[in-house]
Amino acid sequence: MNDAPIGVFDSGLGGLTVWSELRRKLPVESLVYYGDGKNCPYGDKSPEEVRKHVDFAVRRLLDRGVKLIVVACNAATAMAIDHLRETYPVPFVGLEPAVKPAALSSHSGVIGILATAATLKGRLFRETSQRYAGRVRILSRVGEGFVELVESNRENSDEAVETVRRQVEPMIEAGADRIVLGCTHYPFLVPAMRRVIGDRGAELVNPAAAVERHTEALLRELGLASGAGHAPRYEFMTSADEAYLCKLIAKSEEAATADFG
Ligand code: DGL
Repeated sequence: MNDAPIGVFDSGLGGLTVWSELRRKLPVESLVYYGDGKNCPYGDKSPEEVRKHVDFAVRRLLDRGVKLIVVACNAATAMAIDHLRETYPVPFVGLEPAVKPAALSSHSGVIGILATAATLKGRLFRETSQRYAGRVRILSRVGEGFVELVESNRENSDEAVETVRRQVEPMIEAGADRIVLGCTHYPFLVPAMRRVIGDRGAELVNPAAAVERHTEALLRELGLASGAGHAPRYEFMTSADEAYLCKLIAKSEEAATADFG
């Protein structure tokens, strides 16, 4: 038993889509969220640069006494997870696009993957997609402008629908019946995506529930779960300014009740 907090980390606000799932399903666990708002987005940065930012964030979370860190960022996982596991003495849970469940549940044999350029270029994604390439056709596209829409609270605008349409429409036209949200910011755009998809039956695949289950299993296995009566605390940290911290907290309240698909 261990009542220390779980660290949750992302380049910005996106990891809140994982944080909200952890909060819902692990109600006795304290959570410390770190959003690297000063350096967001990671998706177009070099692995060296991202590793530097991630190191800084992880050290701050370790200073807060976290017992496990969820890297709630596909891009950071792609570029830094091996380095993190080799360097720091806590368990890490990483995120990668949910190619497997999408490939196994697709009826049309075509799946779409939306992610940042860094994630799509990473070894993890290349290896997983090669594994399923014989089974389904995989269409991957960078969600150009998606992260910026979420970071500036414009995910519910008409502009968001048009930005999403540019990437999602070609996937639907090519017959995709599963669209994987391979960046933790993207679930905030689920309402815009649903407007684009309409009644054409494509399902959105959000990995947050699987990440929560994996975290829960790991806590149990390592004897790190909090005691049943533990009263959780939710804390937020950022590399950016006070205004960003306020935005992070407001967004967390929104995320706590949102339907991310
Ligand atoms: N939220 C991050 C992810 O899951 C990416 C956002 C960024 O480009 O920083 O990949």
